[in-house]
Amino acid sequence: MPTVLITGASSGLGAQFALIYAREGFDLVLVARNKKRLNTVQTHVEQMFHRKVWVIPQDLSQDDAASTLHRRTQELGIHVDALVNNAGFGDYGNFWEGNPSRQSALLHVNVGAVVSLTREYLPAMIRHHRGMILNIASVAAASAGPHMALYYASKAFVQSFSEAVAEEVRGTGVTVTALLPGPTSTGFESASHMRHSASGGHSSMFTKLHPASARDVAEAGYRAARHGRVLASYGAATRAMIFASRLVPRSVSRRFAGWING
Ligand SMILES: NC(=O)c1ccc[n+]([C@@H]2O[C@H](COP(=O)([O-])OP(=O)(O)OC[C@H]3O[C@@H](n4cnc5c(N)ncnc54)[C@H](OP(=O)(O)O)[C@@H]3O)[C@@H](O)[C@H]2O)c1
Repeated sequence: MPTVLITGASSGLGAQFALIYAREGFDLVLVARNKKRLNTVQTHVEQMFHRKVWVIPQDLSQDDAASTLHRRTQELGIHVDALVNNAGFGDYGNFWEGNPSRQSALLHVNVGAVVSLTREYLPAMIRHHRGMILNIASVAAASAGPHMALYYASKAFVQSFSEAVAEEVRGTGVTVTALLPGPTSTGFESASHMRHSASGGHSSMFTKLHPASARDVAEAGYRAARHGRVLASYGAATRAMIFASRLVPRSVSRRFAGWING
């Protein structure tokens, strides 16, 4: 049975990826900080699909998180055939007013962990001539993002990194895919401290852009990875934003992003 390691599997897109990969015949290694929520996903998957599920609580903002995880999977005798680098969060607000330790954690989780986990698991995939890496970037990768500067920059990194490695591994039997979701209904808004409307409703971005369902976005990501596509997105509005950002000057796209972020 092939095995997938999914980071950020305790909620949102990660929990949906767990269900989808299990349905498609994968055993699962579920990683995030919140063990209780990981166990809930584990129970759900085991009841629905009778797959083997390992839960490994791990804070990916720690320096040695990737090597610790790799060692743990080796001790458990698990070969990771597919890796979903999904864990991530935003940090709403002006960059210079942000909390430095939260900013550092964002870079560790959104960028550092994606690089280090890919570095840990990719060589064995190449040796086996088989493997599938799915990195969750964002439509935010397409422009600079005032009021979420680090988040947008981190996702631009994930897209560029994924595209480059995808090209390097072409023909080896291993594929690398970057999924670029638009706004999606998950725990992201509150985890990213996004400012809510005066009525206590959604943030500016989630009000202006109708969010997609986590299930639909995760299905699109899985399909793209399965077919070895390098870049993928879900929904007409998201695709239009990505396309438009290639046509307009950067000065326009960053102002638009600043307006969207409100
Ligand atoms: N929702 C959107 O609108 C949207 C749009 C574009 C891209 N994305 C991307 O989609 C991915 C999934 O996010 P989501 O929307 O599903 O949000 P979410 O519901 O908040 O899920 C984020 C996941 O990341 C995990 N995580 C956060 N910090 C972590 C840390 N230090 N160590 C380990 N795990 C950590 C969380 O688990 P714990 O809290 O248990 O650690 C959680 O499972 C992210 O990369 C996000 O940037 C989301």
